[in-house]
Amino acid sequence: MSHRVLSGCRATGRLHLGNYLGGVKGMIELQNNPNYETFYMVADAHAITTPFSVNELRQDRREIIIDYLAAGLDPKKSTLFIQSQVSEHFELSFYFSSIETIARMMHLPTYKDKVKQYPKNNTMALLNYPILMAADILLYKADLVPVGIDQEPHLEVAREIARKMNQIYGTKFPEPKRFATKGEYIPSLTGEGKMSKSIEGSYINLTDSFDEIRKKIRAVPTATVSGGPITGGIKTLFIFAEIFLPPNLYQEFKEKYHNQSLKFVALKDTLSEAIYQELKPFQEKRKQIAANLNYVEKIIKEGAEKAKIVAQKTLKEVKEKMGLN
Ligand code: TYM
Repeated sequence: MSHRVLSGCRATGRLHLGNYLGGVKGMIELQNNPNYETFYMVADAHAITTPFSVNELRQDRREIIIDYLAAGLDPKKSTLFIQSQVSEHFELSFYFSSIETIARMMHLPTYKDKVKQYPKNNTMALLNYPILMAADILLYKADLVPVGIDQEPHLEVAREIARKMNQIYGTKFPEPKRFATKGEYIPSLTGEGKMSKSIEGSYINLTDSFDEIRKKIRAVPTATVSGGPITGGIKTLFIFAEIFLPPNLYQEFKEKYHNQSLKFVALKDTLSEAIYQELKPFQEKRKQIAANLNYVEKIIKEGAEKAKIVAQKTLKEVKEKMGLN
């Protein structure tokens, strides 16, 4: 039996390097493995759980589909769709909310972080975020979810919901596992925490020019001399070096750091060049795709139609088991 995969990115702004390395790269790897049937969405409804602009949301939904295509997701191999166009997600999410407690949801670190960040926006939608995410995954009975390590608490909730639904109602949901890439945790350019769309100065956009990348990397805080403990911004630089530089060059920079002969600007500029080289083909492809919006719209429409076929089948089963048919 072939396995199903589901993943997605929130439609808040364009994709950054963390999204690409922790999420999209894994999505591409599984798409290109014939043992998996892959469903990849733009989580636009998740974007309304924090303050948002209507006009930006409208644009971001499509822009992220364009990002997916430019990064190498292929509509011939994967079903690419926009979450809110498959309304079954919301219906299943409501059914799931009947077996999760408020206390459990309030306990999640991701929820607490968002409330801290947006104290005036402590909404029901925010509290329900992980339940909707569980519905996204289980609607397709996906057993593998390519996402960064930051999403692990949400996957734990999805597994819990699958178990409870199976126990209480006799459904047959798999317990979804995370599929990790080597970029499962990309640190912030500020040297504190993870790279995140909602933290200004923390990220590199996939569409940043070489000059923008260089400026941002040069601004990563370091020490006046090398040789001390590898923490903060220095750690960020070395994590990037490990990901983007050939192993011998990475080792060379590390040795120089330890024998105190490293010039940070040399490491920074080498990294900027390597990151830009990785992003250049993406940027060129993105321009071509963005010039053909009819093609993009067609993919979005067909994606929702394909997703709905699977979604309706699962929803029908759940409704029958719950006495709602
Ligand atoms: P989002 O939009 O925050 O992030 C999209 C993807 O990027 C990964 N990611 C990172 N990986 C490594 N380092 C980082 N600094 C970093 N920042 C983000 C995320 O782990 C994710 O893979 N809740 C999800 C969206 C979602 C979803 C789903 C995902 C909604 N429903 C169902 C999978 C399945 C989110 O907010 O991702």
